[in-house]
Amino acid sequence: MRWSILSALLSIVAVSVRGQSSTVDAFLAAESPIAKANLLANIGPSGSKSQGAKAGIVIASPSKSNPDYLYTWTRDSALVFQTIIEQYTLGLDTSLRSQIDNFVTSQKIIQQVSNPSGTVSSGGLGEPKFNIDETAFTGSWGRPQRDGPALRANALITWANFLLTQSNSSYVTGTLWPIIKLDLDYVSSNWNQTGYILFKNNLVFSVNHSRKPRFDLWEEVNSSSFFTTAVQHRALRQGAALATAIGQTGVASGYTTQAANTLCFLQSYWNSAGYTTANTGGGRSGKDANTILTSIHTFDAAAGCDSITFQPCSDRALANLLVYVNAFRIYTINNGIAANQGLATGRYPEDSYFGGNPWYLTTLAVAEQLYDALIVWKQQGSLTVTAVSQPFFTNLSPGVTIGTYSSSTSTFTTLVTAVKDYADSFVAVVAKYTPSNGALSEQYTRSNGSPTSASDLTWSYAALLTAFGARNGVVPISWGASGLTVPATCQRNNGAGGTVAVSFNVQATTVWGENIYVTGSVNELANWSTDNALLLSADSYPTWKITVNLPPSTSIQYKYIRKFNGAVTWESDPNRQFTTPSSGSYNLNDSWK
Ligand code: NOJ
Ligand code: NOJ
Repeated sequence: MRWSILSALLSIVAVSVRGQSSTVDAFLAAESPIAKANLLANIGPSGSKSQGAKAGIVIASPSKSNPDYLYTWTRDSALVFQTIIEQYTLGLDTSLRSQIDNFVTSQKIIQQVSNPSGTVSSGGLGEPKFNIDETAFTGSWGRPQRDGPALRANALITWANFLLTQSNSSYVTGTLWPIIKLDLDYVSSNWNQTGYILFKNNLVFSVNHSRKPRFDLWEEVNSSSFFTTAVQHRALRQGAALATAIGQTGVASGYTTQAANTLCFLQSYWNSAGYTTANTGGGRSGKDANTILTSIHTFDAAAGCDSITFQPCSDRALANLLVYVNAFRIYTINNGIAANQGLATGRYPEDSYFGGNPWYLTTLAVAEQLYDALIVWKQQGSLTVTAVSQPFFTNLSPGVTIGTYSSSTSTFTTLVTAVKDYADSFVAVVAKYTPSNGALSEQYTRSNGSPTSASDLTWSYAALLTAFGARNGVVPISWGASGLTVPATCQRNNGAGGTVAVSFNVQATTVWGENIYVTGSVNELANWSTDNALLLSADSYPTWKITVNLPPSTSIQYKYIRKFNGAVTWESDPNRQFTTPSSGSYNLNDSWK
């Protein structure tokens, strides 16, 4: 008797799980081509909903009022192109090449546009949004936002790494690298404007998060932001690797140093209540989709379930996911949903923008984090429950104990099945509240789930495509998160340890194929190496130029060199010499001698 009730119950559970999975299969099969088409409709010059946008410019949404989103945001654009670049480089869609080339061209232009945050060399890269004709947006806004340059660098580095495997190193060095380097230099010299942190023996010693203005990804909170720090860490880490790969070892060491420092700082967001505090400002709980987006946008399957980089399957990221999700039980449409089933989730529970609602991209991000976790558990053939992640797992499988379960155990199968079902249930929420034409706006209301705020949000479509990819086991290319450790002692105190942006400008006439480099007496100038000398840009030929972050108040010697067909020609003696100022930037205007 008992057994028959139990088996009847089990078969109901099995049917409902299979039912959900096939509903999600059907939804994604129908929705993903719609998402792809609608995403491309929002990219200039020929996207059907983006008239007036220059080539490669991503509009956030075609909505012109309430809200007016007909602008291009660096963050949204970079995330959209990260998706496009991965689709192309992983061979999922080979028709996207010209879109990527257009994006590169557009970002090269946008970087140079003077705007209310500054010029290219004085902070302008932190400007959050531009007009779609590539002119500056001059209205008031939460600026700067320092995640944009890091996200753009991440997308373009993914592209550069792919092209290197295709032996296209001249385009990488000549076209992509100067764009990437500007963003990396910005990140390298600004990430710590977020505050001060001192570590001793892996423990946070003191933190001061309040410094110069800088806004989070939601453009509201003026304080340090977990997402921003995490994507900056990724940019510096993979930027250093790319620099090394193309012989720019002088800058590589500086990026590596700052990557280690950002990794230190990243640890400070984890709190003793068992979740990641996304923001420290704004009087909020800090429970925020910011943290979920971090896990998916810094996912590196090669790093396993590493918790210092908050990998999707790390104990920290899983514990945090549950805390974040449950913060949205306040929404009416979540009433009565079981603890082990997906909810409609938004940016953060205190949100009041358009009344404070669930967002498609944040709900999909939860699913994606879980699909990413499943990829790694299957790949490594085991799953570990720690004291930190136990609340996450017991919510899905009551009574599960701390331990490592190999894929041959029934506990592994139970947990993996439950996590897959949990992930699918978030997609099922999105499916339920997606209108029949498949259009994804920014938000769906907390009261009845009808679409609201910006229509056809490009980022919503990108979020659907990447969640779908993760569900299908698509693994993004590694960015170098494996094997990292938090340095035992690291300190970053802006000001004292900062850098000075020095622009080297040299007038030099060259013949076709000949290039100008700079090398000099400090690490950042490659320590007089000719092999690792820094390549100058010929964009303003006959002026060749490059901006390099150098230590403040330091006497530095340098020379320009020419390289042609492998032959190196030095400038004549004596060495050039100058002293960097104590802060700010500095210009050198030279002529080849
Ligand atoms: C517009 C921003 O894009 C959005 O993120 C924010 O919530 C509102 N302004 C209110 O500050
Ligand atoms: C508001 C969001 O908060 C912000 O992250 C986004 O960049 C803009 N909308 C444009 O989509």
